[in-house]
Amino acid sequence: MIVTHTIDETRQRRAALGTVALVPTMGALHAGHLSLVRRAKQLADHVAVSIFVNPTQFAPHEDFEKYPRPIESDLAKCRAEGVDLVFNPTVDELYPPAVGAIELSVPELAQTLEGEFRPHFFGGVCRVVAKLLNVVRPDVACFGQKDYQQLRVIEAMTAGLCLPIRIEPCPTVRDDDGLALSSRNAYLDDKQRKRGLSLSMALAEAERAIADGETDPDEVEGAMRRVMATHDVRVDYAAVRHSKTLKPLDLINLALEPVVCLVAAHVDRVRLIDNRVVAAE
Ligand code: PAJ
Repeated sequence: MIVTHTIDETRQRRAALGTVALVPTMGALHAGHLSLVRRAKQLADHVAVSIFVNPTQFAPHEDFEKYPRPIESDLAKCRAEGVDLVFNPTVDELYPPAVGAIELSVPELAQTLEGEFRPHFFGGVCRVVAKLLNVVRPDVACFGQKDYQQLRVIEAMTAGLCLPIRIEPCPTVRDDDGLALSSRNAYLDDKQRKRGLSLSMALAEAERAIADGETDPDEVEGAMRRVMATHDVRVDYAAVRHSKTLKPLDLINLALEPVVCLVAAHVDRVRLIDNRVVAAE
């Protein structure tokens, strides 16, 4: 497995490979990330993984400093999965201090939901993903539906920038109890983890309500909030949206419009997100 730290070396190494599928990550790799790697292997001759904790997508009060960085075990996991190339740049390599900031945004999709509670977030994600795609120049890049809005924003960004790169959505991997895998789950103790389960329980409740014929998005959102409130988590949002545009819906009608339910909530100081796409039968 090749491990690179600079843009130049990554470009040279990549040029020697055939088709490449890229899995961008911030490391602390878990089974969710590895499911993306396995999907990537099916899509191209070679798999590249980027490991980079991106400072521009964290607000000053967020967990950039304490975000886990177990690089040796991450590399071992990549090796075990048969990854061909790992790009692990420094902050100065991807954000050359002499150049100054560039900005990128996808206003329509990025201002709602996560964008409302983390206004800096998608700007930072777009900046770094555009750079990673430009350095590695993959044929396809894999992103998890766990970060549903991020996936939609990146699809829009690549289309808007006319990048010749296919974006592959990959399903959310969960623990047996339903908790969506996340590097931030490592911050939870056992009791907090149980409270964190209320996010997937709220989504299951939303799906049940819709299957039972509930057509009012406000009612479904209220039902999700109630589930999370009984587990003492602080809700940022519980939303029922159009699954492509992420716009609010007047009425739920699965035959006409695909729906996604999305939640974000704090278990004490740990912020979790989850979502569920609800499709017509
Ligand atoms: P990170 O949180 O490390 O996630 C990397 C990729 O793994 C993302 O596409 C994310 O959606 C996916 N992923 C995370 N948990 C998952 C799960 N339980 N099931 C399936 N896929 C999962 O998302 C980021 O990093 C960053 O914002 C990044 C895109 C790398 C830009 O810095």
